[in-house]
Amino acid sequence: MKRREMIIRAIQAGALISAGSPLKLFANESGKTALSQLTGNPLRFPPVFTNGGTMTLALSPVTVWPGQTTNAVAINGSYPGPSVVIQKGSTFTANFVNQFTEEATIHWHGVDVPALMDGHPLDSIPPGGNYTYTFPVINRAGTFFYHSHADMLTAEHVFKGFAGFFIVDDPDEIPLGLPRGAFDVPLCIQDRRSVNIPQFVYDPSMNDVMNGFLGDAPLINGTPDAYFEVSKTLYRFRLLNGSNARIYKIALSDNHPFHIIATDGGLKDSAEQVTSFMLSPGERTDILVDFSSYSLGQSVTLKSLPFTAPGSGTYTQGTEMNLLRFDVTGSASSGGIIPSVMPEITYYNPADAASVRNFTLTMSGSGMNMHRINGLTFDINRIDWETPLNTLEEWKIINASNMLHPMHSHSHQFQVYSRNGSTNLPPSDKGWKDTVLVNPFETVRVLVKFTNYTGLFLFHCHNLEHEDDGMMLNFKIVDKIGINEENSGAAEGYKLHQNFPNPFNPSTNIKFEIPKKGNVTLKVYDSLGNEITTLLDGFRNAGSHEISFNAGLINGGLSSGEYFYKLTAENIVITKKMILIK
Ligand code: C2O
Ligand code: CU
Ligand code: CU
Repeated sequence: MKRREMIIRAIQAGALISAGSPLKLFANESGKTALSQLTGNPLRFPPVFTNGGTMTLALSPVTVWPGQTTNAVAINGSYPGPSVVIQKGSTFTANFVNQFTEEATIHWHGVDVPALMDGHPLDSIPPGGNYTYTFPVINRAGTFFYHSHADMLTAEHVFKGFAGFFIVDDPDEIPLGLPRGAFDVPLCIQDRRSVNIPQFVYDPSMNDVMNGFLGDAPLINGTPDAYFEVSKTLYRFRLLNGSNARIYKIALSDNHPFHIIATDGGLKDSAEQVTSFMLSPGERTDILVDFSSYSLGQSVTLKSLPFTAPGSGTYTQGTEMNLLRFDVTGSASSGGIIPSVMPEITYYNPADAASVRNFTLTMSGSGMNMHRINGLTFDINRIDWETPLNTLEEWKIINASNMLHPMHSHSHQFQVYSRNGSTNLPPSDKGWKDTVLVNPFETVRVLVKFTNYTGLFLFHCHNLEHEDDGMMLNFKIVDKIGINEENSGAAEGYKLHQNFPNPFNPSTNIKFEIPKKGNVTLKVYDSLGNEITTLLDGFRNAGSHEISFNAGLINGGLSSGEYFYKLTAENIVITKKMILIK
């Protein structure tokens, strides 16, 4: 077997992708029966998405509770959505087809993608529409996920089933000896309301908008009363909190210790032993659990420990919950180890931050738009601030409310620096993060540096009721040294259209309109502002013109990335961005 083949087999042991067949990923050894005295449903696994395929969103019948039909808002008829498993360095492509009755976008949470691919609510796809999401996978390996991000509909769409795993694998991690294949198990934790079984009824009351829409029935990968048969060996579990609002204090029922090995943005720099950790909506934490000290026939339950939290009502934060029962039924070895050396992480220093931004979280009044950041609620068309590319910033998140807020930034991963002045952080905070839980009246300092893409991104609370209530801001990553989109001529009737197709490979067409005859130049630049080619320099009549650009003919073929094209006519300058993906 070639190295690459071996890797693919290792990832998908017992569940190899073959185009078209509905395969399960990371499936457990089959054919075993659960311990006879115990009940429940075997843990389910969504099918694996075939890269380049279609993701169709539609109201679909799915089975969550055995023998009953749930009407889910699902991708390809699957709840949770199909799992994307992709190798770092490859190009991800999904043709999104919206066959649902509402507009929708797909956001690739934690994945560093061009703004145009980020699923911003401004880029919503209407019912009946479609859109191709495609981007190079530049993130470190890790556990990410995708979900709806439609304007004021995110919470409802996610609650009704629109979310799935996006797992980035990197062969460079193989030498670490972590458990792989059937011993590498993704677990998406969500809560629903047992009073509404078998439907995902989403009808938030005022209290639910205030605290978040909480449930009492945990589903693991969409499985109620889930159990998973394990062998007496070391496992990797990739925990994703895909709940709208519920925070879990993850532990094992017998207080058995385990190791945290990864945070939102992939592996930590050391495996750290704990007996519990907090997992808030949007966060992912990978853990290693060693079952070798259990005896065959024993069970131990992954649970959420009780904790005190603000809020009152039928459903409250901090309720004790059983999440997933592990039945120890086998003796196979994963061959995995707890690595003593993990990949290095270079930590940012707040002294190097070029600026400090304060984000004050408040709650005012009752009714709509209670949850605010710096006194603002979300305005889809307002840009709240600009952050320069490649510049370290400190974001000071000041929670001035008696509420829990898991704060999430799109685009590049950040680092948590301190909580209430203490840099002695819990292991689940240390490493690359995109979501951080900010406790009532707590100040969390994070350090962030965007290094890849310019454009419009979001910063918001990942309690999805808070988010839809407006606890979200727009920010724009700009490149002060390089080049940015700008338009000084729209008013006079000068127009430079978005290139088509975009992203492209290797050719694309650029259309522009000028209101009067004159000299026109059209040039292409790279993202640092270096001029690459001149497409046009000459006299043109008034009217509309089109020029095609072939990136394959320049310097033996341009590499994947963002490029800009700039129209100059009279004293007018218009610049637009295009994306080449090979
Ligand atoms: Cu998972 Cu903008 O969010
Ligand atoms: Cu996100
Ligand atoms: Cu919040």
